[in-house]
Amino acid sequence: MKKTICLTVLVCSLGVSMMLTARGDATKESGIDIADLAADAKAKVGLIGDMLATGESFEESIKEKKLAQAAGTLAALSQGITEHPQGKGTGIAGPALRDAAAALAKTKSLDEATKLLAGAQAALEGKGDGDVKADWAKLVNMHRSMDEVQSRFNQIRRLRRKPTTPNEDSIHASTLAILAKTIQADTHEVKNKADLPEWKTFADSLSDSSRGLAKAMKAEDKAGITKFYLAATKACAGCHAKFRD
Ligand code: HEC
Repeated sequence: MKKTICLTVLVCSLGVSMMLTARGDATKESGIDIADLAADAKAKVGLIGDMLATGESFEESIKEKKLAQAAGTLAALSQGITEHPQGKGTGIAGPALRDAAAALAKTKSLDEATKLLAGAQAALEGKGDGDVKADWAKLVNMHRSMDEVQSRFNQIRRLRRKPTTPNEDSIHASTLAILAKTIQADTHEVKNKADLPEWKTFADSLSDSSRGLAKAMKAEDKAGITKFYLAATKACAGCHAKFRD
């Protein structure tokens, strides 16, 4: 009898703690749609494939730092997929994709890049593995990340006026939310430690507004789109005024 009670208590408390863990994970990524992340990761691998198509296109993507930008963004997206509660359901091997992408962002050799691309393509099919944990501050170079943030924000500005497909438009905002995570983590631009809370406020605001934007875009909620778009603009301008200019 005593044994049964103990067992029940044990099973119950195990159940509760599992529920809590599941809930904890879900809130961590709330507002970022896994389908958006998976679609954008696939698009990035395709784009990198185009960059590697010829010696000439490869040289140009190195010179213009476009490979570093695309691959760095892909590394962050992969980590987003890895940590997402529904990440496994995508069938993508997140850690392997992240590691291939991080190496692609750094390589200057077409031979090496071609091998890494094959690894990234295999990871999209679920092949390969790696450490589940990664440091968000080191996934993508801050300049490259800001260039991608700018390009995504330009797309969002255009789609705000002329929406196309709600579930595709939102991809830009979801990727912006992932880039915001890298900005939240990478505080090396903050020279004075006392300014860290201010950096966090701007970065959190970009994170919240891009998550809000993605939801509003999916729901075709015009007022919501405007509200979160303006909040994001304020986060960019405020942080630049304090930490960049
Ligand atoms: C939390 C702070 C912060 C936020 C929020 C932020 N930025 Fe930045 N941004 C910086 C800093 C610092 C730099 C300068 C360092 C660098 O370029 O790496 C920068 C640089 C840039 C650059 C120049 C990139 C380059 O190649 O040097 C662009 C473009 C940019 N940001 C766009 C944006 C846009 C658009 C947003 C909002 C959607 C935004 N940023 C939000 C801090 C921020």
